[in-house]
Amino acid sequence: MNVLFVSSEVAPFAKVGGLGDVAAALPRYLAESGETVKVVVPMYAKVHAPGRTFTEVVPEIRIELGPHDVRVSIHTCKLPGTNVDVYFVRCAALFDRPGIYGGGGDEHLRFAVLSHASLALCQYLQFAPDVVHANDWQSALLPLLLKTRYAWDRLFAKTRTVLTIHNIGHQGTFDARVLPETGLGDGFGLVHQDELRAGRFGFLLTGILHANAITTVSPTYAREIQTPEHGVGLDPYLRQRRDVLFGILNGIDENEWNPEIDGRIPAHYSDADLDGKEACKEALMTSAGLPYRPHLPVVGIVSRLVWQKGFDLCMGVLPKLLEQRAFQLVTLGTGEPKYEDFFRALARKFPRQVAYLPAFSENAAHLIEAGSDLFLMPSRYEPCGLNQMYSLRYGTLPIVHKTGGLADTVWNVDFRSGRGTGFVFDHFDETGLAWALGRALDSWGTGDGAQRERWKHFQRNGMRLPLGWDHRVGEYRRLYQRLA
Ligand code: ADP
Ligand code: GLC
Repeated sequence: MNVLFVSSEVAPFAKVGGLGDVAAALPRYLAESGETVKVVVPMYAKVHAPGRTFTEVVPEIRIELGPHDVRVSIHTCKLPGTNVDVYFVRCAALFDRPGIYGGGGDEHLRFAVLSHASLALCQYLQFAPDVVHANDWQSALLPLLLKTRYAWDRLFAKTRTVLTIHNIGHQGTFDARVLPETGLGDGFGLVHQDELRAGRFGFLLTGILHANAITTVSPTYAREIQTPEHGVGLDPYLRQRRDVLFGILNGIDENEWNPEIDGRIPAHYSDADLDGKEACKEALMTSAGLPYRPHLPVVGIVSRLVWQKGFDLCMGVLPKLLEQRAFQLVTLGTGEPKYEDFFRALARKFPRQVAYLPAFSENAAHLIEAGSDLFLMPSRYEPCGLNQMYSLRYGTLPIVHKTGGLADTVWNVDFRSGRGTGFVFDHFDETGLAWALGRALDSWGTGDGAQRERWKHFQRNGMRLPLGWDHRVGEYRRLYQRLA
């Protein structure tokens, strides 16, 4: 099958969070299972890293969007380690900026251009996609564009569309006045009319109304977003379309995240031989500037520091717990100032227990996954979450709130049956988090003897889970086949 995969992030070229990882791994595994996949992403300033070379494929495409006459060129290179072509939409005025998102008041235009350029690229290459796979609001206009401005082209006669929702908290909702700038041709009648009358136009809503199938990144989140509590206003539309709404759990890319071969960590280990993990812990402590104390459990955090991720609970729980209990904490992440300030102050107050790295660093992220004993992810909501799965793979027991993909991937350890992979709290409140953290620290105990053996047992439970994309990619292929 021919698949056109469009995303605003693709690792390693452009990544803010998990979307970047998924938009690299899923195409890779689709290609390995025999599909022909072309990936399209904007050429942001940071795509140009040393050692990367790009070939120009299309010197100029003109896209008329209302008053704008946008000109883009298309450049390509392979997705590293694969034979998959990634196409970069170059338009200096729109994408050549330090950040990936925000910062210009023209987000609607930037991502409308991404969608148009993707379809124009297909025309140029005479690539007839069986499936156009859009991701999040940034490419959610594609299904409607195919029914309107591009409907004349026989190239797309058989094309079906899939929209994957990675995070319903971001909907691309703009003032209705931007509509002419989206280039929907005669499609204005097909956008949600009540919303227009209310003065709004939503990219994600438009995609939800027009995609042939909608997926989201875990079965639990697929149910949650159909409820008022988690639907962020889109739940009525998702309920209307529930016959074509599917929850497909993300996988992890075991070429990148696998302690047996990870090139970013100082020692390798596996479920059969966990010894190397201790060397990773020591290296983590050294690089974080904390004393290495093998018998203390280390809790790791790698995250965007934003409201979604639940760190408000940490602000209530961690300062007291650090006084009462012996453990260490390493946090990697940037985001909202109030969370950055909190972790900075915590590190100042507990200099031998807490380290905070306000950075985006792949190397540090891998070292934290490998060197920590526990991984903390108290998200308010979590469509899927990759870090808890990386943690499981690295023998690092996750502490999570029971929501979305966290609920689908982590189970409470049960000493009697020996089942379970982590520590899960049901209610998003400080009592819940304190309970789960307390239970995790109690289970670690002194970190040796019988407690250590028991710990290893639960580490192995997680490390042996089938979390890789090879276990997931079939679900997408079956969906594509059903649509075709
Ligand atoms: P989300 O997509 O909501 O941010 P996920 O758990 O799905 O959450 O994915 C987050 C991804 O971003 C992971 O690959 C994680 O390692 C990475 N990440 C987040 N913050 C950082 C950081 N500060 N440095 C390096 N990687 C980070
Ligand atoms: C989003 C979600 C996260 C998910 C990722 C990849 O950023 O917040 O839970 O894992 O997308 O699908």
